[in-house]
Amino acid sequence: MQKRIFHIESNDAVARDTFRIVLRTDAPVAVRSGQFVDIAIPGYYLRRPISVSDTLPDGVVLYYKVVGAGTKVLSTMTPGAPLELLLPLGNGFWPGLCASDALLIGGGLGAAPLYLLARELLAAGKRATAVLGFNKADEICLADELRALGIPVLISTLDGSVGTKGFVTDAIADAAPAFDCFYSCGPLPMMKAVCAALHTPGEVSLEERMGCGAGFCYGCTVQTASGPRRVCADGPVFDKEEVLW
Ligand SMILES: Cc1cc2nc3c(=O)[nH]c(=O)nc-3n(C[C@H](O)[C@H](O)[C@H](O)COP(=O)(O)OP(=O)(O)OC[C@H]3O[C@@H](n4cnc5c(N)ncnc54)[C@H](O)[C@@H]3O)c2cc1C
Ligand code: FES
Repeated sequence: MQKRIFHIESNDAVARDTFRIVLRTDAPVAVRSGQFVDIAIPGYYLRRPISVSDTLPDGVVLYYKVVGAGTKVLSTMTPGAPLELLLPLGNGFWPGLCASDALLIGGGLGAAPLYLLARELLAAGKRATAVLGFNKADEICLADELRALGIPVLISTLDGSVGTKGFVTDAIADAAPAFDCFYSCGPLPMMKAVCAALHTPGEVSLEERMGCGAGFCYGCTVQTASGPRRVCADGPVFDKEEVLW
């Protein structure tokens, strides 16, 4: 884990309350899918954990939703501004879980880390299908970027404005894609439903409020099948069999 200064290259709204921020630094960056960065927001003591959606040779691409004071401040920051990040944090997805065909299941901005995972799977010669769930059409993001990688993308929206009306599980039942494992990131109820519905091996990325973000304070501990685990350091990605819903 390193503490490094990045500079904002761009910070643009891409969907409702949703921003894509590109950050560059002065040295190579090595991050795997499912890992996250912890951002020091000027004026706030606690850092904000955000998943890495893509890597650049000297940077990272993140997607964030404006939900509170810290992300609001972040959304007002302009190109050139410095940000101090801790990275890389956590244990990410394991592409080796997939024999040949992966199903990537994202809820809302849970799609973000699945983009880097898709790139890793494709680079390893594997295939992927993405299923992304949103409340409404104006929240949809990352679908075009995933399609641009050449992978099929199924969408579900709760209001039926785009794709299957309902949940990601409805879209999966409708399209019946072939897969030998799944990877999921999104709201807990969505991942619980996904794990109940799908009987292949799978990994899920959990979200907890964090203090240190780096394994020291135990503030993000969750109970798992193998005992207490820190989401920041032992996760955020866990085997589906580990999670006690
Ligand atoms: C491993 C991990 C990866 C994440 N990846 C993303 C991502 O890619 N994009 C994205 O938009 N959001 C992501 N989140 C959620 C994101 O961290 C929160 O939305 C953000 O910290 C909210 O900050 P705020 O100041 O706007 O909200 P406030 O509610 O004002 O925050 C108050 C405090 O609570 C914490 N907090 C609030 N909501 C959450 C939350 N859901 N999870 C963890 N801490 C929270 C904040 O970090 C802060 O310390 C991730 C969370 C975790 C744990
Ligand atoms: S946030 Fe401190 S141990 Fe996880």
